[in-house]
Amino acid sequence: MSENQFIKPISTEKKDNLTIGGCDLVELAKEYGTPLYVIDEATLRGICKSYKQAFKEYENIKMMYACKALCTSAIIRILDEEDFGFDTVSAGEIYTVYKSGVDMQKVLFNGNNKSAQEIQLALEYGVGRFSVDNFHEAELLNNIAAAKGVTAEILLRITPGIECHTHDYIKTGQTDSKFGFDLTQLDSIINLIKTSYKNLNLRGLHAHIGSQIFETQCYYDEVEILVKEIARIKKEYGISLDEMNIGGGLGVKYTESDTPPSVSVLSDAVTNAMNKYAIDIPTIYIEPGRSIISTAGVTLYTVGSTKQVPNGRKYVAVDGGMADNPRPSMYQAQYTAEVANKPGCENTEKVTIAGRFCESGDILIENVDLPKLEAGDIICFYNTGAYNYSMSSNYNRVEKPAMVLVNNSQSDIIVYRETLDNLIANDNIPDRLRRK
Ligand code: LLP
Repeated sequence: MSENQFIKPISTEKKDNLTIGGCDLVELAKEYGTPLYVIDEATLRGICKSYKQAFKEYENIKMMYACKALCTSAIIRILDEEDFGFDTVSAGEIYTVYKSGVDMQKVLFNGNNKSAQEIQLALEYGVGRFSVDNFHEAELLNNIAAAKGVTAEILLRITPGIECHTHDYIKTGQTDSKFGFDLTQLDSIINLIKTSYKNLNLRGLHAHIGSQIFETQCYYDEVEILVKEIARIKKEYGISLDEMNIGGGLGVKYTESDTPPSVSVLSDAVTNAMNKYAIDIPTIYIEPGRSIISTAGVTLYTVGSTKQVPNGRKYVAVDGGMADNPRPSMYQAQYTAEVANKPGCENTEKVTIAGRFCESGDILIENVDLPKLEAGDIICFYNTGAYNYSMSSNYNRVEKPAMVLVNNSQSDIIVYRETLDNLIANDNIPDRLRRK
């Protein structure tokens, strides 16, 4: 089993209280406050090793962590130590990676609407690859690279036309997608690169089929399309593309009913397609985000008010919600929770865990069986490492939570809790509204 197939971090233990990385979760809540994001270093490094193990047959495999899942300086440092490169999609992600001391050749710049300023910054920092998404970007990148007197090393992002069974909002590979070149547009862009875009060096193709994917067949189909196109381009244009990026998307286990495949499904899909078409592609990129970081992360909340609706359900409110984890309200995402200070207690109540934000839709889990809850109890939500902090907001002008890294009974802060002053730091009062 690889770590993406567990609900909880691998170091989770039930003692008097729940512990992760040897740290008592109730003590962490006391020391750092709640809501609190907690990242287990052992789980994170374990999954990195599972990926390496799955691709051990491939010499030129480039693992690119998709920063969008969780991008903080300490997390980037750990992934850099684990030999991962980085898939970035904004100046902010590129800057974080750069400031974390990463060799920028290991960085790929993705995205469907990169701005001229972002492209400038990426070229200045020496980002290794651009995944060119559309005709507009190809021209823009070529012009900026020409003005700088440099050549941009590029992959072309294609839309493979694959429909995966995941939430509609996180599908990307289907034909009607905002991302990438349709397969029927590939010849036009290749001709433009050959004839006009002298500052683009075409190295390979890139595709990404979606996120939280459980079906293995989608990957087989995707890699087959990439390999077929690479073979066709060689035959028709005499261009040898020596790089193929198969994207990310591998699912994780949020609840008992989730059955994500292990990471080896990705390497099997690659091997299968390469053998079928007897093609040898020297460099393969994969860019997983969620399956790298999700299971390593949990969120701790403190229970506050409760409301028993007469003849209805019982709501238990916690001190966080849709601003620190928008996934339940955005994607109807489901989570597993436990009470950190009552690990041995029987589940005696069915409750709905509500967030503290001013929206009826701010519900974190509906109808979950838990021990009887009281104000002050600490609830641990599992599998919140990915797309929680990275999609968090200051809705209701609430400070974003802190994040700690735990390992070998030690905890270290890796993101400070926002302060009230942080919240107004970018505000400006025009002169005419100033008070003497
Ligand atoms: N590569 C590309 C080009 C992507 O667009 C994405 C994710 C990834 C890699 C990483 O996919 P992963 O391995 O993390 O599934 N906010 C949504 C997920 C959006 C994913 C966007 N693209 C959620 O919370 O479920």
